[in-house]
Amino acid sequence: MMEVITTISEIRTRITKERKAGKVISLVPTMGYLHRGHQSLIEKARAESDLVVVSIFVNPLQFGPNEDYDRYPRDLERDKVIAEVAGADLIFFPSVNEMYPVKPKTYVEVNELTNQLCGKSRPGHFRGVTTVVSKLFHIIQPDFAYFGLKDAQQVAVIQQMVEDLNMPVTIVPCPIVREEDGLALSSRNVYLTSEERSQATILYQSLQKAKEWIGEGITETKKLKDRIRNFIETQPLARIDYVEILSFPSLEPVTEIHSTSQAIIALAVWFDKTRLIDNLIINQN
Ligand code: PAJ
Repeated sequence: MMEVITTISEIRTRITKERKAGKVISLVPTMGYLHRGHQSLIEKARAESDLVVVSIFVNPLQFGPNEDYDRYPRDLERDKVIAEVAGADLIFFPSVNEMYPVKPKTYVEVNELTNQLCGKSRPGHFRGVTTVVSKLFHIIQPDFAYFGLKDAQQVAVIQQMVEDLNMPVTIVPCPIVREEDGLALSSRNVYLTSEERSQATILYQSLQKAKEWIGEGITETKKLKDRIRNFIETQPLARIDYVEILSFPSLEPVTEIHSTSQAIIALAVWFDKTRLIDNLIINQN
């Protein structure tokens, strides 16, 4: 039976016991409202370890003052079913007061990688992510932690944090899970009206187009970005936040796509008050 644990002291006791029994522990950090994307991470963790912990915590520290913290969808009962079916052993579901009993005076911050893409559009966001993820790593002390490439910058930033601070955990990046029509699954997709939902496929379609253009020999990133922008703008409800092409995972500007090095095409597009992201990694090994 899957258990839900809400306090840090209780989960610590439980994990210590499991570790003494020699179990390999993995963590899948989430903000809940689980979907097939989260499910794929949990299933992979299940296949590769003995104890699978899913954390569900809508982390106030990673939301800006005018963002959707209050309206972010929450449904623990539904999440329990999805997590259990996917193979979780434990859900760690702390309250805000349990994680932040007082306003923290210590933050974990990764520089440079966070000046780009979502870090530029959402100041303070990644500081909130790296702070909560390091807290979770200290609480659970997992051997493996699973993250989706839907948030590719998040993967790069967390990987850097783990390396810089010698955290004894292996980060496992996982592929993007999509709807039939290509839209990347996201807890935020529930905000979309039916008209926005049908236009939202433009993100995936533009990435597929970009892949075609690269195949045809268009490798100049400026040209590609212009074409992607024009393509997205054919949908009247889409408002572009950014279209970027950078090296991956170092996230530095590139002027040309080369066949020998990894690059990321990353998009963020607003549909009214809903901001969607998607990306494509070129030359992924
Ligand atoms: P959340 O948005 O709930 O996502 C939890 C994990 O699921 C992340 O690693 C994310 O990349 C992955 N994920 C989401 N949609 C996916 C999809 N369509 N395909 C594959 N993986 C997908 O990301 C966060 O929460 C938070 O920032 C967190 C890391 C939990 C820190 O608060």
